[in-house]
Formats: sequence, C-alpha cells, structure tokens
Amino acid sequence: MNSVRRTTSLLRNEYHGAGIDPGDFAEDPFLQFERWMEDAISHSVKEPNAVHLATADAEGRPSGRIVLLRDFSAKGFSFFTNYSSRKGEDLEQNNHAAMTFFWNELYRQVRIVGKVYRLPAEESDAYFRSRPRQSQISAVVSQQSRELENREMLERMATEAEEKYRDRPVPRPENWGGYYLDPDHVEFWQGREHRLHDRLQYIRTASEGGWTIRLLYP
Ligand SMILES: Cc1cc2nc3c(=O)[nH]c(=O)nc-3n(C[C@H](O)[C@H](O)[C@H](O)COP(=O)(O)O)c2cc1C
Repeated sequence: MNSVRRTTSLLRNEYHGAGIDPGDFAEDPFLQFERWMEDAISHSVKEPNAVHLATADAEGRPSGRIVLLRDFSAKGFSFFTNYSSRKGEDLEQNNHAAMTFFWNELYRQVRIVGKVYRLPAEESDAYFRSRPRQSQISAVVSQQSRELENREMLERMATEAEEKYRDRPVPRPENWGGYYLDPDHVEFWQGREHRLHDRLQYIRTASEGGWTIRLLYP
C-alpha cells in the first residue's frame, strides 16, 4: 500500500493548465484534439501518441493495452496491429472500443469512445512499406498474442524471414494492418487545483458531422 501511495504522489502533477474555456474550444473534437496534440508535442510529452486501447469480447470481457496512434482525421483515430491478436479478435467480435491518452506533463487526459473499423488494405500496404525493414520482418514472424515456446524460436524465425526476403520487398502479412476508431464521444480533461478539474465532452449528433458540447462534473 505504501509504495502505491508513494508512486501516486510522484505522479501528481503540479502543472495546472489555464483550464478549459468552452468558448475557446473547437466546434469539432478532431480540431481540438489536434490543438492538444500540438501542445503535448511542444511541451515535450514523452510518447504523446501512446494511447491506451480498451476492447471487449462478445461476452463483454474487457482487455486493455497501449498502442501508438498513427494518424487522425475526421474519419477517426488510427493504429496498426495484428488482426489475429487478442485485440484483433475482440474487435472482430465486438467493434466498440475506447482510447485514453494521458499527458502527465500537461495534466491532461483525452477519452475517445466509438466503433472500430479496418482501414482499407491500400492504406495498410502504404504504411507497411514505410516501416523499417526489421519492423516488417517482425510483423511477418510475430503471431501476436499466441503462445511462444521460447525467445530463440522467435529470433530463428526472424533470421529465416530475413533470408527468405533477402533480395525482395517484405510483403505485408494479410493479418497485419490498420484500424480506425470512429468516435461518438470525445472528452477533454484538464487537471485543475484542488481536484476541481475541467471536463468537456463532445457527443456526436444524429446529423452528419455535428457535435454537441457539454461540461461534466469532475
Ligand atoms: C509504448 C507502446 C507502444 C505500442 N504500440 C503498439 C502498436 O502500435 N501496435 C500493437 O499492435 N502493439 C503495440 N504495443 C504492444 C501492445 O501493448 C500489446 O502488447 C500487443 O499489441 C498485444 O496486445 P493484445 O494481446 O491485447 O492484442 C505497444 C506497447 C507499448 C508499451
């Protein structure tokens, strides 16, 4: 218990941002997210695009892990992974998911909830081609989330794949590619003094491209 208390006090950040002024917030959450991502980058937040991704299987059993956000646009927030992984299996059964960013240096959190869809194969191909060759090899040999007998086996498979593709491009595995989360709720959280934090939530309206904004109690 003590060590947990020590850790949380270390994490408690002294940065208390200017607070959220709804009048200054963008009409759409993608633009607002872009502003906060730019703030995170300019404040040297470590791994600003590392995001917790929560999924659940068909029975509602949850599972969480960190992935790297690759891109975002009005279409959604995208990341790349193995479609046969635990998260991939969850998403194929139940495409409801949630993403959570935590930018400690700014004492900010962003929560995104919505449905996840596969990116078109051409976009996965293009991103796969842009990756370092060693990462491509890793994607080819990793049966992500399956049991691995031992580390040596993984390294041997990587060496064999390097041999196999020595003089040619590494093809994207069919079960490796991108997903995007199309949000229906996006919440921006700003830590404030005395835990009187600010929360501003965007909720997608029935009309195409529309959002309503509301404040939430901390
Ligand atoms: C900082 C960080 C970034 C990561 N980025 C990714 C990623 O972009 N894609 C991915 O599939 N796994 C990524 N991982 C690994 C995942 O957290 C996880 O171990 C893996 O995807 C298997 O998860 P699953 O068994 O729930 O499918 C990352 C882990 C960390 C700590």
